[in-house]
Amino acid sequence: MIHFRYLRWKNILSTGDSFTEIKLDKAKSTLIVGENGAGKSTILDALSYSLYGKPFRKINKNQMINSINGKGAEVQVEFSIGKHEYKIIRGIKRHGSAKFEVYKDEELINQDAAARDYQEMLEKNILKLNHKSFSQIVVLGSSTFVPFMQLPSTHRREVIEDLLDIQIFSVMNGILKDKVAANKTEILDSSYKIELVENKIEMQEGYIEEQKNNNEKRINEGKVKIAKTETEKKTYNDSSKDLLKEVTELQLNQSDISAVKERKKKLEQIEFKLNDKINTLKNDIEFYSNNDDCPTCKQNIDHDFKCSTVDGKQETLQQTTDGFEKLRAEYDKINNKLEEIEGVQTRISGLQTEISNNTSQVNALDKIIMSIQEDINNISGDGDRQEGDASKLEDLNVELKGIHKLKEKLTEDKTLLDVASTILKDSGIKTRIIKQYVPVMNKLINKYLAAMEFFVQFELDENFNETIRSRFRDEFSYASFSEGEKMRIDLALLFTWRAVAKLRNSVSTNLLIMDEVFDSSLDSSGTEEFLKILNDLTSDANVFIISHKGDQLIDKFHNIIKFEKVKNFSRIAA
Ligand SMILES: Nc1ncnc2c1ncn2[C@@H]1O[C@H](COP(=O)(O)OP(=O)(O)OP(=O)(O)O)[C@@H](O)[C@H]1O
Ligand SMILES: [Mg+2]
Repeated sequence: MIHFRYLRWKNILSTGDSFTEIKLDKAKSTLIVGENGAGKSTILDALSYSLYGKPFRKINKNQMINSINGKGAEVQVEFSIGKHEYKIIRGIKRHGSAKFEVYKDEELINQDAAARDYQEMLEKNILKLNHKSFSQIVVLGSSTFVPFMQLPSTHRREVIEDLLDIQIFSVMNGILKDKVAANKTEILDSSYKIELVENKIEMQEGYIEEQKNNNEKRINEGKVKIAKTETEKKTYNDSSKDLLKEVTELQLNQSDISAVKERKKKLEQIEFKLNDKINTLKNDIEFYSNNDDCPTCKQNIDHDFKCSTVDGKQETLQQTTDGFEKLRAEYDKINNKLEEIEGVQTRISGLQTEISNNTSQVNALDKIIMSIQEDINNISGDGDRQEGDASKLEDLNVELKGIHKLKEKLTEDKTLLDVASTILKDSGIKTRIIKQYVPVMNKLINKYLAAMEFFVQFELDENFNETIRSRFRDEFSYASFSEGEKMRIDLALLFTWRAVAKLRNSVSTNLLIMDEVFDSSLDSSGTEEFLKILNDLTSDANVFIISHKGDQLIDKFHNIIKFEKVKNFSRIAA
């Protein structure tokens, strides 16, 4: 239970630079009176701001600061929960961060967190009461409080959900809807990605297969070309072998050309000499035949001598001419031989040219074979590229596996989200909780109505529509009741909510502030009853009633606080 003790404020609205203080647990009932604008409702703003950091009326924090002196505004609230004493101090500044301190047993609670988280800590861990419930069951303002019975059913649901603290399910449902949408998009996205990667894999596999086939084809083609070239090479080599054999044979049988040439030279010399000799003999024979005297000594040449000399010379000439003939024949033979040798040499060099041509051809073919072999080696040994292609395929497969895994997880998530959606729907867990509480609420409402001696049977259904029956079982609507009777119903509901809040949040408070809430229904007879009801139902509470009906009520309260405005500043009258 939150037991409020003190509320202080300064420089808020029409309040000036010195603190206005209210001891909240001083009396069981306090009447707050004062003229219009005296500063009564300011209590609500001071309390709301101190607990929730926002004014009660719909203004912003700057509009809360007193505009006359413009000095720093501050609110303070003190309360206890169980054995612990709490104090909250808040400054209000136009600009920049203002003071926000929460003390527990006079020790400042760690302020490391951001202001928003610090506020969340205060509401969730300490107060355990949100602003909406606060303004429905702790502080009822005339401008903001609409009796439950006058709310449309959607708003009734909101109030109850808030009271039962099950609006969290609506919030969760909202978040869940976003998650469901995100999950759907992600599943679609992963399906699309799977399709994409599968396509990529198919393409890469096709490419690798094609490369492989292509390589094999090129290698086979290369091998065929090499074999063909080898055959061609062999033809040349075989031909060279035959040619070389022929050359060797020719060379082996070839006579020594220089010896033949020498012999020819000698024959020519002999021919020359024989020729010379033949000419001399011919001249001598002619001389002896035609001359009788010696041309030198003029003596007569003996006839017999002459005849024998001519005969002798004739014989020698005959012999020499025969020899010459023989030599000529020999010479011709030698010449023929020489020609023959030269012919063989020409043939040999022709053969050698052919062999060297063959060798060049073989060399050229070798080069072709080498280049084809190099190509083959390059293709089959192109490990880097093949490895690159394979590892790319592997990467794609790994990626695909990853996406499949992700999709599996997303699909699992979807199942969970679907279950959660079913639970969080209005017809789900909320309805189950509400169903549990509706009989409790009805019981409480009827108990409070009976306590106010208003004997009707009041019943709310799960959709918060009411049925009200009179003692005689006639059905009435809320509107058909008198203002005072309506007030009883409103009060019964108010106290029911307080009791439910107490049950549900294990939070209750001593404080109940009503700002002109029931003023209109308080006629002279109603007032008595109203106060009696309050006294009966709030035995453990401190009730503050802000009212303009002060004159009728003044002697019925344990305590009176009067606000007044002096020189534009509000204060509590002495
Ligand atoms: N920023 C401000 N600076 C100074 N005065 C302000 C500021 N904002 C509002 N006021 C004045 O402060 C007063 C607030 O008074 P409050 O609402 O508490 O009066 P009240 O006693 O509840 O009056 P009523 O009986 O009419 O409801 C009003 O007179 C209002 O005009
Ligand atoms: Mg007011």
